[in-house]
This record gives sequence, structure tokens and C-alpha cells, in this order.
Amino acid sequence: MPESTVLRFPEGFAWGSSTATVQVDGAAREGGKGESIWDRFASDPARIEDRTDPAVTCDHYHRFREDLELMRSLGLRAYRFSIAWPRILPEGEGAVNEAGLDFYDRLVDAMLERGIRPFATLFHWDLPQRLQDRGGWGARATVDAYLRYAQVVVERLGDRVRDWMTHNEPWVFAFCGHLYGVHAPGLRDLRTALTVAHHLLLSHGKVVPLVRAACAGARVGLVNNLEWIEPASDRPEDLAAAQRWDGAFNRWFLDPIFGRGYPRDLLAWYQGDAPRIEPGDLEVMATPIDFLGVNWYTRRLIAHDPTPRAASERAFLSGRQIYWPFVPRAEFDEWEIQPEGLYRTLLRVRRDYPATDLYVTENGTSWPDRPGPDGAVHDLVRIRYLARHAAAIHQAIEDGVPVRGYFVWSFLDNWEWAFGFNRRFGLVHVDYPTQRRTVKDSGRWYSRAARENGFPRADADSTL
Ligand code: FCB
Repeated sequence: MPESTVLRFPEGFAWGSSTATVQVDGAAREGGKGESIWDRFASDPARIEDRTDPAVTCDHYHRFREDLELMRSLGLRAYRFSIAWPRILPEGEGAVNEAGLDFYDRLVDAMLERGIRPFATLFHWDLPQRLQDRGGWGARATVDAYLRYAQVVVERLGDRVRDWMTHNEPWVFAFCGHLYGVHAPGLRDLRTALTVAHHLLLSHGKVVPLVRAACAGARVGLVNNLEWIEPASDRPEDLAAAQRWDGAFNRWFLDPIFGRGYPRDLLAWYQGDAPRIEPGDLEVMATPIDFLGVNWYTRRLIAHDPTPRAASERAFLSGRQIYWPFVPRAEFDEWEIQPEGLYRTLLRVRRDYPATDLYVTENGTSWPDRPGPDGAVHDLVRIRYLARHAAAIHQAIEDGVPVRGYFVWSFLDNWEWAFGFNRRFGLVHVDYPTQRRTVKDSGRWYSRAARENGFPRADADSTL
């Protein structure tokens, strides 16, 4: 095929996929693991759409070799996974569970044996329940407990793992878990949510030098969920509402990391609910990082909304999302499918924040996939979705943005938090009763893109 019809990526571009321990590992009560806030949260079945819990999920804890073998056979050379804090320190602090560390030794070795580069996330939302009992991330002491946990992990794995992510999506953890109450630990309070976010960002800044000291050649970054926010019209009140949403989702979690402190407009909006900032906190948060991880799923159109709501009005930013009928939407949360928003987000990060490498650490789409009569999963919509988002990344790279890799969410269909097993994001279909894995057509498409370090431009040109 002539070169011009192929979107070719830079040499060394990492084609990978992501998972998180709560969503795939299972073995929730095995190997000495302590209880996590997600085990506790899901113990009330009413909180999970299909009334399931994360006790078994994809059984990746026992089947990781088979899963990594599949990954290798597909040519995926990078794997973003997360480490379970309660497996390392069952009580959150205190005694270390050697069996937990041994498990991660085996997992990492199995990746390296197959030529798969490990990208480890230290915290993907599974706080040990014991720490939650003492205030969780709302308590400043949890920052110190996290540092101790990270020290233990990096000392053990730092000779083999070079790429470290401190936190996954501080916005989602802080707000869905502590304001909207739909994620663990299920609280509903704006001030707590903002305090949790503050402690996450503070612990991020503190852990960066610790990881570097324990791991020669470490590359450390933070993973944020960014969204492309646009005003629904050019009416001044819509512009102001969109500005607030952008501030709450994006700038609140980027400005302090890049040395600008919290955005003033949002500090003024949050008033007395803003977090308590101790001397030195903002300097610590701004510790230089090696890369920023961008989880990207959707664009949002925001209009002004004066309707009072039950919870704190300030929390809802007096804005509301509107939908145009002609923009395609995903099954999940009515997310708009708008790859141009990813392109714009990458350019915006490049423009507004100091130069740092970027990875798209999550991107994907869920559909009710199942094998057809021929035994295959023909998920054409996901192929289009991935091709168009990868093309947006390609365009951003052409325009000078240093994007070093793309990680599809997710490798396997998995336990999607409060939606349980009702959302399938995988490149690989999982039949939960039998744990049978079936590579979807999108997995084959992605495999070819990874092997060829690119794909035909026509794959992205087609409409959904
Ligand atoms: C992100 C999470 C990830 C997964 C995807 C769909 O917010 O980081 O664990 O749930 O959404």
C-alpha cells in the first residue's frame, strides 16, 4: 500500500492496553489481600447495577499468564496495570504481605519474558478499608500511608518496572466517590471531595522523588481524565458555565501539577468548600514529572443551568450538558463520540502546560458485544472508534505534540465499577461463567495496527 494512504506512527510508539486491579484480578480474599473500599462498597448489592461484586471478575490473578500470552500473540508490547494496595499492605499500613509482592514479581516477570513493557499505576481507587475507617483520603495522614506503600512497591519492582503512574483520575475518585456517592466509599460532600483531591495531588508530588530514588531510570507521571468542554452557544452565561466545567474537570487537576496553583475562578466559586492548603503544598504538587497520562473519552457541550439541585449548588457548577441529535453517542453514559475533541485536548495540553511527554493512557468504548453464530465478535463500531481516535492522536503528533503511546481501555471486558459486568470495553470478550476469552474483531484490528505501527487512513475516514 502506498505510504500516503497509511497513518504511520513514530518509531517506538507504545501500542498497549490498560486494566485496573479491582476490575480484572479477582482473588479478592486470597493471597493475604485485605479488604478494599470497593469490596466494602459492593457488599451492598444495591450499589452495583447488576448486583455483582469484584470477588472474581476476570480471574486475572490466576490467569495472567494466559492473558499475557494472548497480549503477546496480538503484538501488544505495553501493558498498563494497577497494583492493589490492600494486597501489599492488607491494613493499609503496618505489616507487608510478602505473598502480595511475590504475585507482582511473577506478573512483571511474565510481562518481561514476553517482551511486554510494564506501566504500573500505584493507585487505581482501591484504598484499604482500614484506612477509610480512619478518614480515607479525606485525612492528611493517608498521604503518609500512601508514601510508605509506594516505597515498598517500588523497592521491590523498581529493578524491572521503569514507567510509574502515581494516581488514576483524581477527579473521578474524588468526585464520584465523595460527592456523587456512586463510587466507593459512597460519600456525598463537596468539601470532602475537594479535600480528597488535594491530598491526592499532594501525595502525587511527594511520591515522585521517592519513586526516582528507589528506581534508577524511572519515568513517573500522573494520569488525569481530561475532557473537551465547549459552550453550547456564545451567550455569555453559556461561556461562563463551560469555563467553570473546564475549570473543575481539567484545570483544577492540571494547573497545580504544572506550578500554577489552583485556578482562581474555581477557588472563588467553591468558596468555603475549597481545600485547606498548608504552606509548601503547592510547591510539592508542582514537582516536575516525566509524562502526563491522558484518559480521554468524550467531549461535553455545556449550557448555563439555573435550576437548584439537592446537593450543594456550587458542586454542580450551574451548568448542564446538552446533546446535539446529530453527534453519535456511546452506550456508556451517553458519551459523545467526538475524536476531534481528543486532538484538541492534546494540542491544548501542549500549548497551556510546560513541555512534557504525553501518553493516551485510556480510550475506548463499551457495547453489548457477544459472539455470533460463527463464534466471533464483530464489533465494527469499536474498530471505527479506535481508528478515528488513533488518527486524532496521529494528527496531534504531526502537529508537534509529543504523544508516546496509546493504551486502549481495556484489554479484557471487565467489572465496570458501579455498572458491574453490564459494560464491555474489551478488545477481548470475556464469558464470565466460563472465563473464556475471545479476541474481538477490534482486537485483531488493533493487533495489526500495533504490529505495523500504523493503519490505513481509510479505516478512520469511514463514518461510524
Ligand atoms: C475510567 C477508569 C477506568 C474505566 C474507564 C471506563 O474512568 O479509569 O477504570 O472504568 O473509565
